[in-house]
Amino acid sequence: MTATSSSGAAASSSTASGSSTSAAASTVPLLSVAAVDVKIETVQVLRGFSLDVPAGTMVSLTGRNGAGKTTLLRTIMGHLTPVAGRLSFDGADLGSKPAHIRAALGIGYMPEDRGLVPELGVEENILLPVWVSKTLQVEDRLRFVYEVLPELKEMRERRALQLSGGQQKLVALARALAVGTRMLLLDEPFEGVAPALSERLATAIGILRGSSISVLIAQSEMNHADALIDREVVIERGANA
Ligand SMILES: Nc1ncnc2c1ncn2[C@@H]1O[C@H](COP(=O)(O)OP(=O)(O)OP(=O)(O)O)[C@@H](O)[C@H]1O
Ligand SMILES: [Mg+2]
Repeated sequence: MTATSSSGAAASSSTASGSSTSAAASTVPLLSVAAVDVKIETVQVLRGFSLDVPAGTMVSLTGRNGAGKTTLLRTIMGHLTPVAGRLSFDGADLGSKPAHIRAALGIGYMPEDRGLVPELGVEENILLPVWVSKTLQVEDRLRFVYEVLPELKEMRERRALQLSGGQQKLVALARALAVGTRMLLLDEPFEGVAPALSERLATAIGILRGSSISVLIAQSEMNHADALIDREVVIERGANA
């Protein structure tokens, strides 16, 4: 399985002192969250939270219900704005970039609630962010997604609303894979999924190990992904535990 970011050129900088890019990538974490504070309305949900995801690794963000996992992932995607702290991706400041730019950096997001469009077909749901990106090639991305999740090819014309909850998780993973050429943010991918499908999801995510794609998995416990994870970061009431 090759999972290289063939479209990585679209995301990399073409300006300035470009020759040091790969050397820098090996020392700077791909994603860095440093002492981030996030408030939702008046409640401070994240309190000085920090986490690094080194390039090519799988990191578990582990914490119980209400700890702030989803809040952190939504902050990384630009849906929430920190009141303090710093986010960077590939050494560049992320905080100043609007949400739509972040997907274009090659970050794929699988939200907790799956977020599929029920009336659209499986393949249409997978391709939605690819169409928005304007830089990714539909055929390339579909080939890659169906390599990792071939069973979705067989159901590509079924509407999302005809699928079981577990199948919808597979589609949501596929949609994140379609744009996540550099990094995936997976919010409780195994939650509420029957054991067989959980294993299937873990196998699919495991295919990415050793590839250039980094993965951050939010979960309340480690069991499903134990063997996949390089590093665990525990979050407790919005802070590093
Ligand atoms: N829209 C909101 N308004 C007010 N408080 C919120 C909102 N969303 C989340 N919170 C609060 O922020 C805290 C963190 O929530 P978050 O959803 O990030 O946790 P989580 O770790 O993802 O939990 P879960 O395991 O239940 O998904 C919780 O205390 C929650 O009550
Ligand atoms: Mg959550």
